[in-house]
Amino acid sequence: MEKVIEAFTGITEEGKKSRIPARLDKALTASGVLLAIFMMAHMFFVSTILFGEETMYTVTKMFELNFIFDGGLPIIVSFFVAIITAIFIVHAILGIRKFPTSYRAYLRIKEHSKMMKHTDTSFWMFQWISGLIMMFAATIHLYIMFTQPENIGPYSSAHRVVSENMWLLYIVLLICVELHSSIGLYRAAMKWGWFDGENPKETRAKMLKAKKYISVFFLALGFITLFAYIKIGIERADHLPMKYHPTDTIEIIKK
Ligand code: HEM
Repeated sequence: MEKVIEAFTGITEEGKKSRIPARLDKALTASGVLLAIFMMAHMFFVSTILFGEETMYTVTKMFELNFIFDGGLPIIVSFFVAIITAIFIVHAILGIRKFPTSYRAYLRIKEHSKMMKHTDTSFWMFQWISGLIMMFAATIHLYIMFTQPENIGPYSSAHRVVSENMWLLYIVLLICVELHSSIGLYRAAMKWGWFDGENPKETRAKMLKAKKYISVFFLALGFITLFAYIKIGIERADHLPMKYHPTDTIEIIKK
């Protein structure tokens, strides 16, 4: 019961200010930073297709630990997806606390944001809306990755993107995730004063610039990568989503 009273009043039994909101906020930042780091690594992994089909295939097999288990074990990828999904769910539950809880609250926040014309307030609006979209969109992607880890590879992935129409979901996810991650990192650095230094105003301007570069870089890389999968998917649209094998490239060259 004490916890319920503390949650509602924000005051502990001893009459002190509750630390729970701050702890939840710290957990939100920690899970967000983990996800942002994962998303950057994920983008680099997915974009290995730009170096060729064989490179993406080699990296995929490495995630299946083929250097330990002969031929690789896709279930290892499922295990990894489960960990990321758990962090994603925790982050979403902690983030939901920040959502407006009624239409009236939403209108009030929207008006407030319009009136203020303050970058950080607009960022906050974008964060909860993109977070809401990702709660639905990312779940579809994570479920497919969890249940079909054996269908990750240059041909199977391209087939999924084109013939299974995942390109549309990926465009939505790409925009949401890249902007949400870079804004999230910027807002976390501002909130906890990680790089405040002597002149916090100057730091803020620098951080905003860094945020812009990160967004542009990952969005550009994401779209170029998506086009690469679409190209392979269209070229191979008449083929079954046959598994890639390193000798395939040699066979194509021979023909
Ligand atoms: C461990 C978890 C994950 C794995 C193993 C994974 C794997 C992949 C793979 C293999 C692709 C290439 C296309 C395909 O095969 O369908 C892909 C694309 C993509 N994934 Fe993930 N993913 C994971 C988590 C996430 C999360 C949490 C998000 C976003 C919230 C996300 C967003 C995207 C986007 C936007 C693309 C398209 C990127 C592009 O083509 O430029 N992924 N992912």
